[in-house]
Amino acid sequence: MQFISVAVFCLVFIPSWCLENLVFPPDFKFGVATAAYQVEGAWNVNDKGESVWDSVLHSQPSLTMDRSNGDVACDSYHLWRRDIEMAVELGVNMYRFSISWPRLLPTGFPNIISEDGKRYYNDLIDGLLEKGIEPVVTLYHWDLPQSLQDLGGWANPLIIEWFADYAKIAYTLFGDRVSTWLTINEPLVVCDGAYNKMWAPFLDDMKIGRYLCNKNVMMAHAKAYRIYDEEFRPLYHGKLSMPNIFFWFEPETPADAEVSDLLLQMWEGRYSHPIYSKTGGWPPEIEKVLAENGKREGYRQPRLPTFTKEEIDFVKGTYDFYALNHYTTRLVRKEKPGQAGPWPFYGCEELDVSVVNDPLWTTAVTDWFAINPEGLRKQLHWINSTYGVKDILITENGLPTVEKDLNDFTRLTYIKSNLEQILLAIDDGINVMGYTAWSLMDNFEWSSGYLVSYGLYSVDFTSPNRTRTPRDSARFYYSVIRTRSITSRQNELNYV
Ligand code: BG6
Repeated sequence: MQFISVAVFCLVFIPSWCLENLVFPPDFKFGVATAAYQVEGAWNVNDKGESVWDSVLHSQPSLTMDRSNGDVACDSYHLWRRDIEMAVELGVNMYRFSISWPRLLPTGFPNIISEDGKRYYNDLIDGLLEKGIEPVVTLYHWDLPQSLQDLGGWANPLIIEWFADYAKIAYTLFGDRVSTWLTINEPLVVCDGAYNKMWAPFLDDMKIGRYLCNKNVMMAHAKAYRIYDEEFRPLYHGKLSMPNIFFWFEPETPADAEVSDLLLQMWEGRYSHPIYSKTGGWPPEIEKVLAENGKREGYRQPRLPTFTKEEIDFVKGTYDFYALNHYTTRLVRKEKPGQAGPWPFYGCEELDVSVVNDPLWTTAVTDWFAINPEGLRKQLHWINSTYGVKDILITENGLPTVEKDLNDFTRLTYIKSNLEQILLAIDDGINVMGYTAWSLMDNFEWSSGYLVSYGLYSVDFTSPNRTRTPRDSARFYYSVIRTRSITSRQNELNYV
């Protein structure tokens, strides 16, 4: 008789006894996340500059499903003390928020540093530290100064210097108190999303702009990393990374294995390989496919701009841990040339593949969000084995609902199952450093406006006070943090 190991058995079946004795390691950190444009509001107070989101949604409100925008959002600009209080109520170790570039640098350039912007982020950082909560700061969560977009935005290679100047100012102002920095949130969204009319500035340029942006974000991140490494790390000993959004992809049938790997490289590899791989540069298989596609289409230069040898070395290794935003899984199916689904965002059109859901997975809100927690564990293994990265921080994970109820059992279950997968991955030997729930509270969910919620706390957007109220998922998260485990007693624990 052949025995399978406990780890393999648990990977496949996950009965409760697999988890019963598992606890989060003592240095595992729990957190919650938000982003400036989604929560701050106060879009034009004092000298704040206009961001691409301000400008495009003021001129074209129909770009969001409810014609809303982030002018007021959760009003965290005024209500940040309550946000800290909520983080304290949950008992989290870290709060991830982003700095609004145009709030700190109204012109986008370092010629003016806003006193008001400085004060706001100093207050928030100091307020968190007073309560023993670590500020985890994202430099860029999609609210590019409109002034820089007018100059070409992420397609202009000068943005590498613009971003570096901004990063240096942020490190100088806040680096003495912030020791975890995240450079550019989900570069895939910044490039593939924004150049596919899905996120501001809603451009339509998937052939060229998307890939110019791809190279420039990698270089901008690397430059910001190198500046920190050389000038600030010796003083403050902090850590940096760039959070990647990472759908897990699996082949629909064994025959789709090759294209499924290719789609992983198109999504994750294009934004990870240059930084984390031993060789650096673009994933070779993607560089090859895109070069062939471009040639066939009559382009004389590769659409995905090549890296020079110096650039490869400059970008390679610019990380202290892998920052992962994980939400969902897709199955990948090979298609005949020209028959890929209409999803340029996924890169299907470049690879002749479709992405579909497994009928066994339930979906949340829309069918883009399939619930398959096992995908997270597989993905953690993939990162670990593909890049040999030692440490992984989950910088986002959460579930959208249309219902605004305080009883949010589906979100609670989603978070629970993902935490279970993390415990199992840790047990497999992968160093998951922490988990960050998206989101602390309901907020402006980009093109879904306020129709979709991810919050552990609900927010009453009809009230001028933007009243925040904990959901059941908040109580659950609190009890996990308190016990540092997922036990059957969880539901009995009271929330403070
Ligand atoms: C992540 C983003 O990709 O997904 C968050 O970093 C965002 O800012 C979250 O709110 C949910 O995305 P969406 O598109 O459902 O609002």
